[in-house]
Amino acid sequence: MAAVRWGILGAATIAGNQFIPAVRAAGGGEVVALASRDAERGDAFARKHGIPQVHRGYTDLLASREVDAVYIALPNSLHATWTVAAARAGKHVFCEKPLAGNASAAREAAAACDAAAVVAMEAFVFRCHPQTLRLQAWLREGVIGTVRTAHAAFHFLLPPERRPDNIRMRADLAGGALLDVGCYPVSWIRLAFGMEPAAATARAVWDRASGVDTQLVGLLHFDAGRAATLSCGFDARSGVEARIVGTAGELIVSQPYHPRGPGATITLRRSGHPDETHTDATDEPSFTAAVRHFQSRVRNGVPALVGVHDGVRNMEALDALRRSALDDGSTVPVRPV
Ligand SMILES: NC(=O)c1ccc[n+]([C@@H]2O[C@H](COP(=O)([O-])OP(=O)(O)OC[C@H]3O[C@@H](n4cnc5c(N)ncnc54)[C@H](OP(=O)(O)O)[C@@H]3O)[C@@H](O)[C@H]2O)c1
Repeated sequence: MAAVRWGILGAATIAGNQFIPAVRAAGGGEVVALASRDAERGDAFARKHGIPQVHRGYTDLLASREVDAVYIALPNSLHATWTVAAARAGKHVFCEKPLAGNASAAREAAAACDAAAVVAMEAFVFRCHPQTLRLQAWLREGVIGTVRTAHAAFHFLLPPERRPDNIRMRADLAGGALLDVGCYPVSWIRLAFGMEPAAATARAVWDRASGVDTQLVGLLHFDAGRAATLSCGFDARSGVEARIVGTAGELIVSQPYHPRGPGATITLRRSGHPDETHTDATDEPSFTAAVRHFQSRVRNGVPALVGVHDGVRNMEALDALRRSALDDGSTVPVRPV
């Protein structure tokens, strides 16, 4: 079977650090093209990463007949625009998270992928990792009974000297902690409950100069009074965690989003039983399984572990959290506006 020929939109840090190594490690794909707004940056990036074709501008790459699929590693505000353009050009789309800057743009992106019948996925790579598949299987089996609550967090330190010019500090590019890293806990909590939240409550810390949120703590409300907590931010050196509490026990996940190595564990804790700790992670970086899965969808039509419409549902919850944070923590419904 022919290799999936990838084009990358944007000479982005994540493309060089994670995506290109993942394509090379996964097998069955090759990175054949890069597009950049800037000729010099594009050439330098392509040389560094051994990419044969360089395009001046994203539209030019989308016109290439030598590209089957694109990786969109652009600022969040551009994800939906270029997903739509790529789908209309008949390219399969692996789009960085979040799928869009807001839910209405996410719906347009998903609709364009449906209309063009292309394979499309938001790059929440944990959704394809064996650790997450184990977690979903256990939840289906009811190992912790009925899920009552969950907590998920993603904090990292974006030091002051790296903030100027960083896309994460640009409100016009849909930056901010909620969209940059809060999207992970939201996706993870939705997966834990296996349903969509009905409402959201949130409080944020806002950076006055840029207008973006640098920290956010939120609640996602589910049925029957159940709720989950999440937190995210740019202000802490660590703070990645996830746990699900059920009527019969709890699951504690040490590296929920990018599991790697023996430190990535799931602990099953049940009263009257010794803790059971499992690891499904190897030294393989978390992106590799997702790229392998995506390529199998393109080449062999394997069923999707997660579809592009999941990105729309995630964005609806993110929109509600943001609306609540802007309204000083009022509880708002998770619904199309
Ligand atoms: N899945 C993950 O684990 C993960 C991890 C990190 C980041 N991400 C996501 O990946 C995306 C890129 O993040 P990054 O850290 O790699 O960003 P980055 O290094 O700043 O790269 C973003 C790229 O977007 C292009 N771009 C287009 N318009 C731009 C504008 N107005 N301002 C700045 N850049 C613009 C630039 O490419 P050209 O100038 O070459 O066109 C730039 O290289 C984000 O959506 C982020 O959320 C995901």
